[in-house]
Amino acid sequence: MRHLLSIEDLSADDLSGLLDLAQTFEAVQQRDVPKVPALRGKTVVLAFFEDSTRTRTSFDLAARRLSADLVNFSAGSSSLKKGESLRDTIETIDAMGVDAIVIRHASSGVPQQVTRWTKAAVINAGDGWHQHPTQALLDAYTIRKRLGTLEGKRVVLCGDIQHSRVARSNIQAFTKLGATVTVVAPRTLLPSSLDHWPVEVSKSLDESLEQSDVLYLLRIQHERMGQSLLPSVREYRASYGLTTERARKLSQDCVIMHPGPMNRGVEIDPEVVDDPRVAVLDQVTAGVAVRMAVLFNVLGPGQFDRDDEADPASSSKKRSAA
Ligand code: NCD
Repeated sequence: MRHLLSIEDLSADDLSGLLDLAQTFEAVQQRDVPKVPALRGKTVVLAFFEDSTRTRTSFDLAARRLSADLVNFSAGSSSLKKGESLRDTIETIDAMGVDAIVIRHASSGVPQQVTRWTKAAVINAGDGWHQHPTQALLDAYTIRKRLGTLEGKRVVLCGDIQHSRVARSNIQAFTKLGATVTVVAPRTLLPSSLDHWPVEVSKSLDESLEQSDVLYLLRIQHERMGQSLLPSVREYRASYGLTTERARKLSQDCVIMHPGPMNRGVEIDPEVVDDPRVAVLDQVTAGVAVRMAVLFNVLGPGQFDRDDEADPASSSKKRSAA
């Protein structure tokens, strides 16, 4: 794989291959010294133009555990503040000779655009409402680990579908891996058309609880709404929150997931968070292994080398698809 921009670009085999690779890296993390020299000499830049805790920290750890050199570029303290354009910023980073740029941005499509301004591999760490491919991979990894497979599993995705890049990526990844996905949300938080989405729509969370193998709760994305699309947080919880009563109706081995950050008492009640069926911390753990797999896939031996472009003779040998 040259870049990781969208789950759309990956086949079911690509996805399974990345999950298998992540499994080998999970074993590395359990060692006394959780580090391998796989990416020694490679340089990874984390360019986050939007807030992040989990994604940024786990890309950071993933790069270190592969022995890559790491640069944390922080938009807040950069020359962007002085009005430097995104293009100039990326071209400046590129001119220093980096091998991969991990980018998060509030606008959809930025990672794709960035591929035109750099020779480095580009990894999308979340762009606007569009995609968050490594989140989808770590979620698929978590489900596979808990339930053995995604094939034939019923996933219910509940909440703010409209503003969620996690929903868009996860629906593509889960269905490619053989799961069926049902979405449940207030009308105002569903996209106006779901025509091309491989999902069923359910009007009520209560009706969907008993048949779900996975219940995936999405965060209410107030920062993306622009206007109030919900009557009140209390009413949201009453119809769509995972309360203790609703948790009782879920099967014994149902996997309860949330990408974080959780709004306790809105998407999920505080008493439910400690239920052993809640996989939120497993998701976070999987994030490091999955991001190691992605970095290794784009930069590891046999993959793209930024100098290939200057030496066409070497590029056909080295470049290979995922
Ligand atoms: C998600 C994101 O930023 O898209 N969080 C994350 O990466 N763990 C989901 C969210 O913010 O709701």
